[in-house]
Amino acid sequence: MGSAVGKLLGLLLCLQCLIELHGVFIRFTNVTCESKDLSSSIVEYCAVTNLSKNKNSIRLRYTMLKPMLRNVEVYFQLLTRGSESINTVSNWQPFLYTLKLDLCRFWKNHHNHLARMVFEFIEGHTNLNHSCPYTKENYISIEDVTNTEVSGKIRGVPMPKGFYALFTKLSTENISRVQTNFYFEVLSP
Ligand SMILES: *[C@@H]1O[C@H](CO)[C@@H](O)[C@H](O)[C@H]1NC(C)=O
Ligand SMILES: *[C@@H]1O[C@H](CO)[C@@H](O)[C@H](O)[C@H]1NC(C)=O
Ligand SMILES: *[C@@H]1O[C@H](CO)[C@@H](O)[C@H](O)[C@H]1NC(C)=O
Ligand SMILES: *[C@@H]1O[C@H](CO)[C@@H](O)[C@H](O)[C@H]1NC(C)=O
Repeated sequence: MGSAVGKLLGLLLCLQCLIELHGVFIRFTNVTCESKDLSSSIVEYCAVTNLSKNKNSIRLRYTMLKPMLRNVEVYFQLLTRGSESINTVSNWQPFLYTLKLDLCRFWKNHHNHLARMVFEFIEGHTNLNHSCPYTKENYISIEDVTNTEVSGKIRGVPMPKGFYALFTKLSTENISRVQTNFYFEVLSP
């Protein structure tokens, strides 16, 4: 009897762990775009759009006034502030680590796991999907990435419920050009 209950509990806990491993569902809460150098980039648009109760999307575009030839780097930093209300004063803490990515090299050999995952999220929705130089592009954009699509791809990443931010900064020739911050909430598990 006791052992049957034990088995049942074990099974329930295991189901719980499966949900935790596979059921990450996120919702975008905000996105901000900033040009760090108005002589090289201009924010065209940058917004979260509600599509339905549980579905929203992000689109953004920077016009680039100078071509990005080489030494293109992207910094990623994932932060969290747990499950406090999004309206409280922010108190972001690093979650994982800061990553500095050589974008020109990345597109040649996809060497970085976290970067590979981030670019997988926006695959098919961005024009920044090939190696340097970026001479033909006069803009950088991310178009209509939905939370449901990202949730489908994020499965397997152990992220507790709560509020998160992914800060990204793009630099060329060691000078910051644009800073894009993505804010999202993990609703389940
Ligand atoms: C998004 O962030 C911007 C800039 O910090 C802020 O002005 C705006 O109120 C935020 N929007 C939401 C829905 O939180
Ligand atoms: C979008 O949906 C969220 C969550 O339901 C809500 O808090 C927010 O006010 C909505 N934004 C707009 C612009 O309707
Ligand atoms: C980059 O993305 C665009 C838009 O989704 C697509 O048309 C193009 O084939 C992609 N290029 C590469 C090299 O993947
Ligand atoms: C960028 O900074 C790194 C380290 O600070 C330095 O080694 C490199 O020469 C710089 N590159 C340019 C193009 O200024």
